[in-house]
Amino acid sequence: MKIGVFDSGVGGLTVLKELLKYKNEYYYFGDNINIPYGTKTKYELQILASKIVEFLISKDVDMIIIACGTVSSNVYEYLKNKYDIPIYDIIGPTLNYLKDKTYYTFATPMTCKSKIFNNAIECSLLVPSIENSEDVIPALKEYLDKIPLNSNLVLGCTHYPILTNEILTLRPDLNLINMGKVLFDSLDLESNKLKVRLYFSKVDHNLINNIEKIIDVDYQLEELCLNYQK
Ligand code: DGL
Repeated sequence: MKIGVFDSGVGGLTVLKELLKYKNEYYYFGDNINIPYGTKTKYELQILASKIVEFLISKDVDMIIIACGTVSSNVYEYLKNKYDIPIYDIIGPTLNYLKDKTYYTFATPMTCKSKIFNNAIECSLLVPSIENSEDVIPALKEYLDKIPLNSNLVLGCTHYPILTNEILTLRPDLNLINMGKVLFDSLDLESNKLKVRLYFSKVDHNLINNIEKIIDVDYQLEELCLNYQK
């Protein structure tokens, strides 16, 4: 089975990492030249996500997983209506899992604006800091101060599981909810032969370091800038 997965950058690799437990052929697109998606308009997200979906369709994938909270919360319905291919979002399974639970959420500005999650806190500094491998701790401390003791905390952006160790070191009392893990638990896919192809719109050493911190399998990497002009 060929599976397309995409995000604005390396964050969706936290989802891919879970999906890799199913041995399939994966095509991952990370649009890191256009990062962050969290501050784009809905219209911009429609354009960017459409180009990526069309690229993945051109690779003949059987299904597409939106491994980006911002795209899922803002343009999932739009993409589903526009394309015939099965498209899965990253947030739906987490919302199902959260039914009847009290929780707080860390998310990007556009995901917060969509009101899809309860008690959402805008963490706009995290994605750029993760992508550029900058110090996230001061911003993280500030965001974590807003979360009551012993809460369920949804990592509502797929970049945030990269900070799991840092978060739990600062706040061991929290129960973190990783959307990639919840998605994995909700799927029942076949397994066959693993092949991983990663496409990023900008490839540099920093990106390669980030990829290798997250996934631990052989992969092919290619720089590919999509043409976003209408
Ligand atoms: N990983 C994306 C998400 O889940 C990050 C969005 C961004 O680029 O700001 O929302």
